Amino acid sequence: MIDRRSLLVGFAGVAALNAIYSSGALSAAPLALDHWAQDVADLNRDLAAAKISLIEWQDRIAALDTGVNLAELRRYLDFDRLTKAMAFPTNLAETADPKFPASINVAGIERAWFIRFFGMRKGGAIIPHVHNNMVSAHLVIEGQFHARTFDRVQDLPEEKAVLLRPKLDRAIKPGDAISMSDDRDNGHWLIAEADRSFTFDVGVLGLSKTRTFGLKADDYSMIFVDPTAKPETTDLVRAPTLSFGQCQARFAP
Ligand SMILES: [Fe+2]
Repeated sequence: MIDRRSLLVGFAGVAALNAIYSSGALSAAPLALDHWAQDVADLNRDLAAAKISLIEWQDRIAALDTGVNLAELRRYLDFDRLTKAMAFPTNLAETADPKFPASINVAGIERAWFIRFFGMRKGGAIIPHVHNNMVSAHLVIEGQFHARTFDRVQDLPEEKAVLLRPKLDRAIKPGDAISMSDDRDNGHWLIAEADRSFTFDVGVLGLSKTRTFGLKADDYSMIFVDPTAKPETTDLVRAPTLSFGQCQARFAP
């Protein structure tokens, strides 16, 4: 006969274990997230080695970003600890760089690459810009943004402007991801619509040594623009280039 007391203790133990599992403290997340992180690193390695196209990188990082469990990702990258001190005194973004665990193989990715949190207060912005020779993906992990993206159709160096074709223009929420490259959606502009709005970004820089642009980028591969002109008859926007200071004054005052 089973002793009634030990049965009760046994049930209590199971209940306690269930509580631990449901709180996430002992979830299977690290293994799943290790797999996810390794896929991100492998994808960046393939892009840096030109084994895949820019657009293939965009499609595959979008699948990785939208397929990951956000709560698990936040725990895995220590999001709360890395961002809790951010106070957002201005309308510009603050950043923090998480790290993949040492067990993730990141050896031999032959281009500069990064993973980074971008956070801002309501009304804060990733001010509008285009990039030369880089890719990035932006997964919303908290809050909400008004996101606009643009294809970069042509550089107009004589008039210090870029011809842009507007693409996305809508709210993006946790779990949504956008990406950019030289080939698709090269320009972007995000405005936070909630306090403490954050993206998690993956980027690879210095990609093509042969592809040249009419306009030179700054040390961060960025060219700031004003994309707010009315579209012309071709549906293209003639966007003058701006200095960082001009762009901040206009879009994140
Ligand atoms: Fe960017």
